[in-house]
Amino acid sequence: MHSSNGTIPMKLVSLIAVAAAAALVAGCAGVERSRNLGDPKVSGVTIAQHVCSNCHGLSGNSVSPNFPNLAGQTQPYLSAQLRAFRSPGRNDPAGYQYMWGLSRHLSDEQIDALAAYFASQMPVRQPPEGDAGRLASGKAIFEAGLEEKGVPACHSCHGDKAQGMATFPRLAGQHADYTLKQLMVFQRTDERPDGAVMKIVSHGLSVQDMTDVAVYLQTLP
Ligand code: HEC
Ligand code: HEC
Repeated sequence: MHSSNGTIPMKLVSLIAVAAAAALVAGCAGVERSRNLGDPKVSGVTIAQHVCSNCHGLSGNSVSPNFPNLAGQTQPYLSAQLRAFRSPGRNDPAGYQYMWGLSRHLSDEQIDALAAYFASQMPVRQPPEGDAGRLASGKAIFEAGLEEKGVPACHSCHGDKAQGMATFPRLAGQHADYTLKQLMVFQRTDERPDGAVMKIVSHGLSVQDMTDVAVYLQTLP
């Protein structure tokens, strides 16, 4: 776990943004690439491979936990989140710093193609993290919730293998840092308006509980 306070340090954010901007500029040598984000004629697959891949990986499996894995994520959830960044509704800090500008000029057609591209990619299994005690506690929260704290079982919405369904996102194999950060966003802010149900779900979770379940979810295939 690198950033247990749930936010990416500002310095790091601007460093990554500069690096990503440099990567995008370097990519502009190709005629088509320079118009990727403003041109409705550029296909979603081209955008995915030339722009999104800089952070999320070519196959939607990202190296850095600052960037969520998109591989195998459900298509309706990906579409909904891209629309939420574009509108813009989802306004958690990392969301607006990174995703607002990138999604602003995407057409509905491009969004649906991007979502289909990443949904069809194969998730890579993540290295395990956390000791046996934390994994057991995380598994118990995922499968049974925490009755005394009013926390429902995660699997009832996210699927028995955390594979997701429709707009209930896949959680299996997601970077634990990212999952923890989003649980904090849901619990403590209104920055993800579409996640109102998750505000209720996460209400009774301690930071320890959130960390345990996040670490457990990362280990799932
Ligand atoms: C410069 C880095 C960067 C690039 C390029 C980038 N993203 Fe992101 N993306 C992020 C970060 C950081 C987040 C996490 C935001 C947060 O914490 O809310 C994110 C989040 C997302 C999410 C939400 C995932 C979830 O599980 O809720 C989707 C969907 C997404 N990006 C799709 C894309 C697509 C499609 C592209 C290409 C058009 C793209 N991203 C390009 C950095 C990037
Ligand atoms: C009643 C249904 C429901 C239950 C139970 C539930 N979730 Fe969710 N969860 C959702 C929905 C719906 C979303 C999508 C929110 C959005 O669109 O912003 C979500 C989103 C999330 C996300 C964000 C994923 C991403 O890629 O950004 C995480 C993390 C998450 N849930 C974790 C959990 C955990 C851990 C539990 C169990 C403690 C749980 N959820 C239980 C409905 C549920």
